[in-house]
Amino acid sequence: MTIHSLTARRIWDSRGRPTVEVEVTNEDGSSGIGIAPAGASRGTREAVELRDGDARFGGLDVQQALRGIEREIAPALLGRDAADQAGIDATLIALDGTPNKSRLGGNALVATSLAVLHAAAAQAHQPLWRHLAQGRPVRLPLPQVQIFGGGAHAGRRVDIQDFMVIATGARSFAEAMEMTAEVYRAAGALMQERGALSGVADEGGWWPNFARNEDALDTLVAAIEKAGYVPGEQVAIALDIAASEFGHGGRYRLALENQEMDSNAFAERLLRWVDRYPIVSIEDPLAEDDEAGLVAFTRAVGHRLQVVGDDYLVTNATRVREAARLGACNCVLIKPNQAGTVTETLAALRAAQELGYGTIVSARSGETEDVAIVHLATGWNAGQLKVGSFARSERMAKWNEGIRLETRPEAPSGFAGRTALARGR
Ligand code: PGA
Ligand code: ZN
Repeated sequence: MTIHSLTARRIWDSRGRPTVEVEVTNEDGSSGIGIAPAGASRGTREAVELRDGDARFGGLDVQQALRGIEREIAPALLGRDAADQAGIDATLIALDGTPNKSRLGGNALVATSLAVLHAAAAQAHQPLWRHLAQGRPVRLPLPQVQIFGGGAHAGRRVDIQDFMVIATGARSFAEAMEMTAEVYRAAGALMQERGALSGVADEGGWWPNFARNEDALDTLVAAIEKAGYVPGEQVAIALDIAASEFGHGGRYRLALENQEMDSNAFAERLLRWVDRYPIVSIEDPLAEDDEAGLVAFTRAVGHRLQVVGDDYLVTNATRVREAARLGACNCVLIKPNQAGTVTETLAALRAAQELGYGTIVSARSGETEDVAIVHLATGWNAGQLKVGSFARSERMAKWNEGIRLETRPEAPSGFAGRTALARGR
C-alpha cells in the first residue's frame, strides 16, 4: 500500500505560535497526522527549526518549511510504502542534506516522519502504541509532572526550569494522575494562602513567585504533605535544572539569588538539595558544554539518583554512546523533534536501553493537542513520560490518552511504576 497524498499546513501551538502539520493519506484511504512541537530551552545540537525570520508573527512563521514539504518532500514520498519508516526517514535526511536539518527544517522533517508513522499504524488497523510494540509486552510509562514552571517557561522568574513530582507509590497510570492532581491542587492552595498565586507558566505549572530557588522545593514538599502523601515514599521530587540556560563555559549565574559560581560550587549546591529533599531525578544538572561536570555529578549521585541528559544528549544515539563511555548521566530524555525523524529518535532510545540507561519520552514547552508521544513512550516501552504540568489542554490531552490506553480492553501489559527510574553508574 503506498502513500497517495502528503499535504502540509500551518497550525498554531500552545503558545499561539505557528507550527507545521503534515497529513499523509494512503491509497486505501487510511491516513495519519504529524505535528512539530517547539522548545524554548533548546540544546545547541538539536535539529534546527526552520522559521521564516521575517516580520510576521515575530519571525516565527513556517512558510519556508511548508514550501519545502510541498516542493521537495511530498514528490519524494508519493508512491512509497508508509510502513517503510526507516527508508522514508533516510530519504528525508538525504533530501535535507545538512547535519542539523537546517535546510528543510527539523520541524518539517519531524512532522512528516510522525505523519508517516501514524499512517502506517492506521493502515495496519492498529493504535499507534501497538503498532510500535510489534507484539512485545510493553508497559504504560511512569509520569513526571511539573508543579511549578520556571526558567525559560516563566520569564525566568526562578532559575530552575521544572519542579516536578513523580508518584512513586502509584500502582497504575490512572492512580499516578490522581495523586498528581492532589499535589497540584495543594500546591496552588499553598501559593494562594501565601499571596503568591499569579497564574500558570508555559507548561501549566504554577507561576513560581518565590524569593529563592529553595522556596519552590520547600513549597513542593509542603504540597505533597498537604495532599496527604509521604514525601519520597508515595510522591517524590524530580527537577529539570535546564542548566544550559544559565551556565556557560563552566560558570553558573543564578539570577534570582544574584550569585555566580563555578561548576563545582553549583554541583555542591545541587548535592545539598539532593540530601535535603526527596529528589529522585535531576535533568541537565550542569550545562551541555560542561561534560566534565556532568561526569563528576553522575559519579557522585548516579548510584542513588536518576541523572537525565536532555540538552547534552539531544536524542542522539552517538552522543548517548559517548556519554556512556565517559559515565555521564544514567537516563536519556527522548524528544522526537531534537532528532528530527522517528528512526533517529528510536535509535537514541534503543542505544540508551541497551546501555542500561533509563529513558523518558518528553514533550516540548510548545505543544498541541497531539498525543503521539504517549504512544511512543508506551509502544517503545520507554518506562517514563514527561509532558509538562497538570493543567492546559495540550498537557491534559496527553495524560488523558494514557488513561485511555490503560483502561481499554486491549491495554498494555501493566504500568512501569517506580522501577522505571534509572539508578546505577
Ligand atoms: P523546552 O523544555 O521544550 O522548552 O526546550 C523542555 C525541557 O527542557 O525538558
Ligand atoms: Zn530539559
